[in-house]
Amino acid sequence: MMKILITGGSGMLGAYVTRACNISRYNIVVADRSRLDLSHPSAIEHYIKEIQPQVILHFAAETDVDLCERDPRRAGIYNHLATEHIARASGACGAWLLYISSSNVFGAEGKTCYNELDIPLPTNYYGRSKLMGELAVRAHCPDNHLILRAGWMIGGGPEKDHKFVGKIVQQIKSGATELRAVNDRLGSITYAGQLSDFIIWATEHRQTGTLHFASCGTISRFDIARAIGDILDFKGNIHPVKSSLFPLSAPRPFSEGIESVYLSLAGKAFIPGFWKDDLAKYVASFQV
Ligand SMILES: NC(=O)c1ccc[n+]([C@@H]2O[C@H](COP(=O)([O-])OP(=O)(O)OC[C@H]3O[C@@H](n4cnc5c(N)ncnc54)[C@H](OP(=O)(O)O)[C@@H]3O)[C@@H](O)[C@H]2O)c1
Repeated sequence: MMKILITGGSGMLGAYVTRACNISRYNIVVADRSRLDLSHPSAIEHYIKEIQPQVILHFAAETDVDLCERDPRRAGIYNHLATEHIARASGACGAWLLYISSSNVFGAEGKTCYNELDIPLPTNYYGRSKLMGELAVRAHCPDNHLILRAGWMIGGGPEKDHKFVGKIVQQIKSGATELRAVNDRLGSITYAGQLSDFIIWATEHRQTGTLHFASCGTISRFDIARAIGDILDFKGNIHPVKSSLFPLSAPRPFSEGIESVYLSLAGKAFIPGFWKDDLAKYVASFQV
């Protein structure tokens, strides 16, 4: 039975994948922070070599973009150095390593949408630390890794989603009539449930390289809020606002939209669709 080590199994994406791995009856070891702590990278290699996994699914990260900006040292240790130690151990065990990177590795060039042929140029420390993680994975597991870059991740459902989509759905359900959403920053959405399905497929087929994984379309949060309003038959008003209304520590690019030139070649299964359709699939999980 395939032995899979999962980091970040309690996170938004990790929870979907851990559930799917349990259903598929793999031999999984979920390394929570008591066993594998990103803040102590030097202890990681010893732990992984003891487990001797055939596959490592590395989801753990410092995902707070603004905290990374205020504390670049933390971003570097959690997202770069810890990933480097995981990649080294993975190389030593001969394991296949999956690393989830981010559309935040792009943005400084000022384009609207980026594919795998674009050279990353991040605008903030979170993006830089994720990019350094990518470089470490390529250096230490040159032929045995898959890097998936995700866009704005949506997922978690009614109990766990405290991010943008969850907040809009909850506001509508609680009777709010006036909503606001930013319309001058763009990105692409990635539904964690779909990404999880693709990860299981890619693990079984040992896909390699770097792929973008996001629904089709480069959109603003205002577009997302309006689409949720349509799905939920919202009768109130949604107002477009500028991002300057919500000052944040980390600079956000004009756009971190991503698309893929390779994904359809990797396999026809589990490819994301048009963003409104994928958003609707996710929002449906709030209605059951
Ligand atoms: N969310 C997005 O919009 C997005 C977009 C693109 C890419 N990504 C990438 O996708 C991956 C998964 O993201 P996510 O949103 O699912 O993450 P998340 O919900 O923020 O969860 C982060 C995970 O990392 C773990 N973690 C944090 N600090 C740790 C430490 N010191 N030692 C060990 N584990 C630690 C957390 O464990 P605890 O439960 O113990 O805190 C949690 O399981 C990350 O690599 C992220 O960079 C995310």
